Amino acid sequence: IAAQFGTRPLAGRHALVTAGPTHEAIDPVRFIGNNSSGKQGFAIADALAAAGARVTLVAGPVGLPTPAGVTRIDVTSARDMLAATEAALPADIAVMVAAVADWRVDAAAAKLKKSGDAPPVLALVENPDILATIGHAANRPRLVIGFAAETDDLLAHAAAKLARKGADWILANDVRTGVFGTDANHVHLVTAAGTEDWGAASKTAIAEQLVQRIAAAF
Ligand code: CTP
Ligand code: CA
Repeated sequence: IAAQFGTRPLAGRHALVTAGPTHEAIDPVRFIGNNSSGKQGFAIADALAAAGARVTLVAGPVGLPTPAGVTRIDVTSARDMLAATEAALPADIAVMVAAVADWRVDAAAAKLKKSGDAPPVLALVENPDILATIGHAANRPRLVIGFAAETDDLLAHAAAKLARKGADWILANDVRTGVFGTDANHVHLVTAAGTEDWGAASKTAIAEQLVQRIAAAF
């Protein structure tokens, strides 16, 4: 990637990236999670570093190597991810790629046991929205970018998230096709100015295209 950014256009900038899933504990041995591999977020962190940015990558539980030149902070839950993300501010650029668990449960201190009666009922509590928190923060990064994972009404949902979360750009991806865990993705860039279809591409190519757009905005 480095060869594409010979001038290091983001030198002197701090970029903050979230990536991967979060795991929400049910008890000491079980959790609620999701299918995010972290590949798209790690590719974006890699491309930002190659473009010269100082990169802080707040990563949920994934089995991926840390991209060269990137400072990685490993977290487990959504609340941990929010705390690490806020602690990493100020930043010039925030790219929130993580598939944050929308709900957690109040974790039991001891392992739940089959009692022979009815199975346990998990009461779900909504997690904080990291992108919306950063998008509305007093020390908001100049450029705040989110993703929108959708299975229907892709662009309408993405435009609603853009407004609701205080983001500048949303990369909308249709997760009905094989996105999770694969190297392929298909995104639309949604901004206040309109929508662009970036077509089907590798996660690395999408990361490079996004970083070129970010560099052009600084
Ligand atoms: N996001 C976040 N914190 C959350 C939920 C989502 O930071 N608790 C971010 C994601 O990293 C992504 C964007 O918000 O950049 C959109 O995530 P998505 O799951 O598509 O949106 P939600 O607002 O959670 O809506 P829903 O899942 O109901 O479609
Ligand atoms: Ca969600």
